[in-house]
Amino acid sequence: VGPGANELLAFLRAPRATRTFAPRAVAAADVEAIVATARWAGSARNRQPWRFVLVTDEPTRERLSRLGAYAGHLAGAPAVLVLLSRDGDGLIDTEFDLGRVAQAVTLAAHALGLGSCVATLYPDENVAAAARLVDARVGWRPRLAISLGYPGEPAGGGRPAIPRGRLSVDELLLP
Ligand SMILES: Cc1cc2nc3c(=O)[nH]c(=O)nc-3n(C[C@H](O)[C@H](O)[C@H](O)COP(=O)(O)O)c2cc1C
Repeated sequence: VGPGANELLAFLRAPRATRTFAPRAVAAADVEAIVATARWAGSARNRQPWRFVLVTDEPTRERLSRLGAYAGHLAGAPAVLVLLSRDGDGLIDTEFDLGRVAQAVTLAAHALGLGSCVATLYPDENVAAAARLVDARVGWRPRLAISLGYPGEPAGGGRPAIPRGRLSVDELLLP
């Protein structure tokens, strides 16, 4: 365990889903730094089956936010990174690869003080609509989008729809 390891582990544990954002733009250089970091995520056979489209304009974010049952946070995020994956390549690893690169985006954003939250775009008609919206290249499908922004005041009141917290290490690391 090297110096700073505990701080690094705390950093890796820290990012929680951020769905409300301060009205402050995300610098283009920060988005570039996020992609420059996330691109080093490993993928099966190093295929890197991902591309990114940055969406900042409000009307497009608003439309994207209606293309998933729980994608509402995309409307209020100053920046949205749409993740494109290879369409129907039949490879079981693609989804796993996208998960890895998405987590790398989350951590890189956190390093820059940015909150983030994934949104799943579905069903397939909505994915097709999102592809038209972001002018996705033929053969690439936007099934996920990630809100990025400086954390805002959480929407007050009520309990979150999704339980927070995590299973304990004892529950996870089976005897
Ligand atoms: C594959 C995947 C899809 C997700 N889709 C959505 C979504 O559509 N909308 C949303 O608000 N959160 C979405 N999330 C965020 C999860 O709800 C969140 O990671 C989980 O509840 C843990 O949140 P916490 O880290 O704040 O405790 C998604 C997360 C993952 C990994």
